[in-house]
Amino acid sequence: MSKRNDHLFVPLEFEFLSPEQQLFRAKDFESRMRTRRTVRQFSPRPVPRELVEIALTIASRAPSGANQQPWRFVVVSNAEIKREIRIAAEAEERDNYERRFPGEWLDALAALGTDWHKEFLEVAPYLIAIFRVDYGISTGVEGNERKIKHYYVQESVGIACGFLIAALHCMGLATLTHTPSPMGFLSRLLQRPANEKAFLLIPVGFPAEGAEVPNIVKKNLSEVAVFMD
Ligand SMILES: Cc1cc2nc3c(=O)[nH]c(=O)nc-3n(C[C@H](O)[C@H](O)[C@H](O)COP(=O)(O)O)c2cc1C
Repeated sequence: MSKRNDHLFVPLEFEFLSPEQQLFRAKDFESRMRTRRTVRQFSPRPVPRELVEIALTIASRAPSGANQQPWRFVVVSNAEIKREIRIAAEAEERDNYERRFPGEWLDALAALGTDWHKEFLEVAPYLIAIFRVDYGISTGVEGNERKIKHYYVQESVGIACGFLIAALHCMGLATLTHTPSPMGFLSRLLQRPANEKAFLLIPVGFPAEGAEVPNIVKKNLSEVAVFMD
């Protein structure tokens, strides 16, 4: 006998498209995503908060292990906090570039022209710090706390961040996927609880006038996909 409980199911909302519509949407999205790039020079031009809220709502629609939605988005626009984040990130990154990164890593980064200076952390109007929630906490009637195991946290948060980056790009905003590691300083500055660990830090805004990006090459379909007909 099936374990399925019919009362817990609702009809699927699904948009069946004509083949023409499908191809149109596919090509439209592909051409929009073709211009997505990691931007490292931002303009201070303000961004409507509503856009960030919509992007986070889209990110929250991502699939997640057992639907545990193990993500927390901390949105920083406060100038003083952004400054503290910049100072802490630059301290870590300076150590990385001058001492910690092995030569191999520095070689891989050379084409990107990055260094320890992170001016964008103060210039971009918004910094979205994404935290992975490694376990949940339930409080019993006696007030005793119990840890709830979360499944596939990294995968789930990674997918949500992908949704977020794509959404922001499609609404005409630039992002930088940033990992000023180790990122423990974000937990401290943003006062996150012990079950949350910093995952990514994403500055969001408009690109600076004349912004440039590294001239890199994306692999073509045959290099990344295998079709087994
Ligand atoms: C997990 C992850 C971490 C990254 N960390 C940094 C970073 O700390 N600093 C940085 O400048 N770029 C960072 N990047 C951006 C990559 O360098 C960038 O995505 C890559 O060079 C491809 O360029 P594109 O995003 O413009 O296509 C990161 C990207 C990912 C996916």
